[in-house]
Amino acid sequence: MTTQTEQKNLLGKLFKDHQTLVVVGGNWGDEGKGKVIDLVMDHYDIVARFSGGSGAGHTVKTPKGVKIVSHLIPCGLAQNKVCVMARGEFFDLKLFLKELEECSGLVGGRVPPIWIDQMSPLWTPWHALLENWLEHARGNSKVGTTGKGIGPLEGLFKLRISPLVGNLFSEKDKLVNVLNLLYQGLLPIFSEMQKLGLATDIPTPEQVAEQLLIQAPLIAERVVDTAFVLHEAYSKGQRVMFEGAQATGLDSHWGTYPFVSSGNSVASGAAIGTGLPMEYFKATIMVCKTLPTRVGAGPFPSEMGSREASLVFPKQHPEFFEPGQAREEFLKDKLAVINQGQANPEDYAQYFQVLGDERGATTGRGRSVGFLDIPWLRYANRINNPKFLALTRFDMLSGVKQLPVVVGYKYKGQMLAPSKLPPTWQMDQIEPVYENWPCWQEDIYGINDFAALPKAAQEFLLKLEQHLNVHIALVGTGPERDAIVVR
Ligand code: IMP
Repeated sequence: MTTQTEQKNLLGKLFKDHQTLVVVGGNWGDEGKGKVIDLVMDHYDIVARFSGGSGAGHTVKTPKGVKIVSHLIPCGLAQNKVCVMARGEFFDLKLFLKELEECSGLVGGRVPPIWIDQMSPLWTPWHALLENWLEHARGNSKVGTTGKGIGPLEGLFKLRISPLVGNLFSEKDKLVNVLNLLYQGLLPIFSEMQKLGLATDIPTPEQVAEQLLIQAPLIAERVVDTAFVLHEAYSKGQRVMFEGAQATGLDSHWGTYPFVSSGNSVASGAAIGTGLPMEYFKATIMVCKTLPTRVGAGPFPSEMGSREASLVFPKQHPEFFEPGQAREEFLKDKLAVINQGQANPEDYAQYFQVLGDERGATTGRGRSVGFLDIPWLRYANRINNPKFLALTRFDMLSGVKQLPVVVGYKYKGQMLAPSKLPPTWQMDQIEPVYENWPCWQEDIYGINDFAALPKAAQEFLLKLEQHLNVHIALVGTGPERDAIVVR
């Protein structure tokens, strides 16, 4: 086993030459970016979040092992690093204060500097109402959003009618005027929603302003031009990690539009979201799940079972998701079926959903699980150009004899060129081409030394690395901070 000090030194060596590091998700979210940031931020001074809003949920642990789930505040809070909420992140005042209170309790009141950008789009209750309407209007083709109004925040910002954080510090009349612009644009929709019984209490601009102004003084000292703060820090040689939210497949341009979140979740989004010049971005680490997952709607070429069934399975069988005999027997039986070669798609889907406790951190919805998908990762590599990969939850393959791995996409009867994707609306015509890759019987939970992994696990990783042509620097083998192989 590698000791914590050895691991820290290895990480230090790995990232030494990179003054900045962008962390992005390679799949459709929930890859474990929080854990990777948590581990690597030791070697950085600042953690800056550059996109997304309250729909994201990042889980980190404090040095004392206390679990923190943050939606808005960068993961740096857990380790007392300077936190920057850059302009590309959507800001929700009420949630921020709630999160700050909860998190500061968990870190023993020791809160680092947290900077909020003066021109980030500002959330209002109308954003969530609009989202409700848009999802309703989509009928059977819902996006399956987190319901936090993230799409409307981005959309209305682009329509140039969004309030911004800095508006909170003008006189009440001025704030009401800004809010009124947005309200007037949405009023016809709100009237229709009221007629249809989709909304009852819709606050007026005066009411929204009043609420905001009560809380605004609590953040006044944190509101700055974050691009300037980051630029100064970088110029002085400080080291900055850029925390991505969501993932490549959920990026509004490079994901599976319209089944995406909003904002720029890919690596280049760090430049747009922070206002720093491109040359400041030295390296990217792309975090990928060994078995990718997806919540909400949209294409998922390597999906094991059905989305609908995965969504409700945890609610139908909560007992399988709690420690105990029911869970153990379920996992044992399903694994036996898989290893006898008799598993149907739902057997795979249920086994891995239960094993990985694949439920959304923000919504509690069941996540649908997919097989390891090399063509998708090649696409994500092309978009993000990562220097490093972090492969999380590798321990989920322990005990499996062999895993079907997607090694190519057949499309319209032909193999697609590596890294190429058809448009979203034709992705259902992709036929994944599978290869069975041998796994291992030994439990690798918690192993953090490559040499200590079973030979088959080592070979699996090396083969994957060859296919992807990117250094797999980190391999997760359990939720604990040091349950990760550093290579
Ligand atoms: P929105 O971000 O609420 O607009 O949701 C759009 C899509 O992104 C939906 O499919 C969500 O389930 C998905 N999504 C948003 N945030 C996350 C996340 O943190 N993890 C996984 N999926 C997410």
